Amino acid sequence: MNKSTIAEVHKYAGEEVKIGAWLANKRSSGKIAFLQLRDGTGFIQGVVVKSEVAEEVFQLAKSITQESSLYVTGTVTKDERSPLGHELQVNGIEVIHQATDYPITPKEHGTEFLMDHRHLWLRSKRQHAVMKIRNEIIRATYEFFNEQGFSKVDPPILTGSAPEGTTELFHTKYFEEDAYLSQSGQLYMEAAAMALGKVFSFGPTFRAEKSKTRRHLIEFWMIEPEMAFYEHEDSLKVQEEYVSFIVQSVLKNCQLELKTLNRDVSKLEQVQAPFPRISYDDAIKFLHEKGFDDIQWGDDFGAPHETAIAESYEKPVFITHYPTSLKPFYMQPAQDREDVVLCADLIAPEGYGEIIGGSERIHDYDLLKQRLEEHGLPLESYEWYLQLRQFGSVPHSGFGLGLERTVAWISGVEHVRESIPFPRLLNRLYP
Ligand code: 4AD
Ligand code: MG
Repeated sequence: MNKSTIAEVHKYAGEEVKIGAWLANKRSSGKIAFLQLRDGTGFIQGVVVKSEVAEEVFQLAKSITQESSLYVTGTVTKDERSPLGHELQVNGIEVIHQATDYPITPKEHGTEFLMDHRHLWLRSKRQHAVMKIRNEIIRATYEFFNEQGFSKVDPPILTGSAPEGTTELFHTKYFEEDAYLSQSGQLYMEAAAMALGKVFSFGPTFRAEKSKTRRHLIEFWMIEPEMAFYEHEDSLKVQEEYVSFIVQSVLKNCQLELKTLNRDVSKLEQVQAPFPRISYDDAIKFLHEKGFDDIQWGDDFGAPHETAIAESYEKPVFITHYPTSLKPFYMQPAQDREDVVLCADLIAPEGYGEIIGGSERIHDYDLLKQRLEEHGLPLESYEWYLQLRQFGSVPHSGFGLGLERTVAWISGVEHVRESIPFPRLLNRLYP
């Protein structure tokens, strides 16, 4: 007999297969039982008809408990109504392990309860769909950057420097020294770009930020490309092409998952490069016109501001040229204006906020040193970083895309806590 996964049953239409699965849910009457089976690759309905199977098989089908593990045998049949397109006409069931009192029942549960049971919640259909979309974004990321000639480089997690400001650092001891968990691999990626040209990283980053919003995690995964000889505008082109590519890849390869999540795909279909750009100056004017009187030039945007700006576009929008005072020390000032920097934040549609932060980097040694001093950063820790400007310095740019915000947006889930397997949130380190 063929051993199959649920995702591959279509190869065996009309044939008998054996599937290892869990019982996700069940409905039964006196004559028929419907088993919702899942095996990690997908979900399928198993139909057990009393008159067509041995009596003990039917009794077993009626009595199996939620999340018991099974080997199920049956014939694969086409079924137009099922999202998968196929069903299983079950003729045999072997219980591997019987589960009792599975805590997540088909009824509604509160968020805290589900978060406490995240290790089990991941099995549910919606969570499974989000994780598959996350996986597709990761796969497409590697495909995109490999195709474009980037090399993957892995920056360290234990570091002695702070690219994004010192207030959100996770402190730890490194034997006798002080160390921090990486809040961005960028500075190391700049060194790597000077060695390999076009590079990208993909790894965990940490922000000890006491924010409790739907966009903030304490530990999140970031994709950080860095490109030698790329100026601000060159970098924006890479960003819009990359984001378009991952969205189109999900649309192509995750149709079932998007359907499970009831995602409005018409909004995603419009996500094709090029993306609109608005300067910070114009964004402030726009917000004033919209009646946001509280914000002034020099203030950072809050979530309501970003959402208002994003709402006037169908696609993600770049907000460019932020005030120098709002941004980290390494950003290159605009040529004609000292008070703004060559940077952009990419704001996702539908209220998901900033998914990318990026900029051209200062490549002049004296200016970079001056900025480090102005920011009160210890020059000894940045000596290596300054040296990149002493030996063949070139204009270069890069950006960081937050994976979880991107997953939340593309999946259409409200909160980033559902877009990472085990979220680290304010006051949550369990499970
Ligand atoms: O804007 P950020 O802080 O930029 C950097 O770290 C740069 N060094 C990146 C670079 O140029 N190489 O963070 C980049 C992105 C944000 O746009 C957001 O998507 C995500 O990382 N991000 C978070 N995601 C979840 N929770 C948090 N607390 C996040 N902080 C940033
Ligand atoms: Mg940012």
